[in-house]
Amino acid sequence: QTINLALIIGSLRKASINRVFAEYITSQLPEHVKIEEVAIADLPLYNQDYDNQTIESYDQVRKQIKQADAVLIVTPEHNRTLPAALKNVIDIASRPHGESAWANKKVALVTASPGSYGARDSGLDVRKVMQSLASQVMIAPEIYLSRATESLDDGQVSSERTQKYLNKFANELVDFIGE
Ligand code: FNR
Repeated sequence: QTINLALIIGSLRKASINRVFAEYITSQLPEHVKIEEVAIADLPLYNQDYDNQTIESYDQVRKQIKQADAVLIVTPEHNRTLPAALKNVIDIASRPHGESAWANKKVALVTASPGSYGARDSGLDVRKVMQSLASQVMIAPEIYLSRATESLDDGQVSSERTQKYLNKFANELVDFIGE
């Protein structure tokens, strides 16, 4: 039976390395997992005044996340935490109060950085935020891809070692969302 996986990429950049990893991971998932990307680039900054107004782009992302069986977040780190655009969509989908899309939602997480720490602080902060929203965060494996540009060539994951590692994650992800 079909499983709907919403994909959120925390980078808005065209040449995002996180997008490359997200595309690799989703390419490894079985056919019954349908991927739908949640577009976050043009969402207005969350404002509580909008809770009793209709903002089409807010409705769209709230619906996408609510309807998804699970959400995969693949994100960089900006100044030691999650990027603002990612925090924005998390906030939008957490409101109006009592209508959060995140409650009990299965959420899996991957972070990547060219640096030595693999955007781990971003990942840990996302975990903290999702925990506060009572989502079911996939605990293990934790994937913080460090020196991530070294695994890439020409916009593809070229390192066999990284491919293997991500294949293993993709398998675990399927188990997690199928549970
Ligand atoms: C960064 N970068 C970065 N990297 C990191 O490992 N820790 C950090 O705290 C930061 N901080 C940071 C702030 C801002 C504003 C920018 C633009 C960048 C570098 C970042 O990891 C690098 O640009 C990645 O390529 C971003 O991922 P995408 O956009 O390629 O997916």
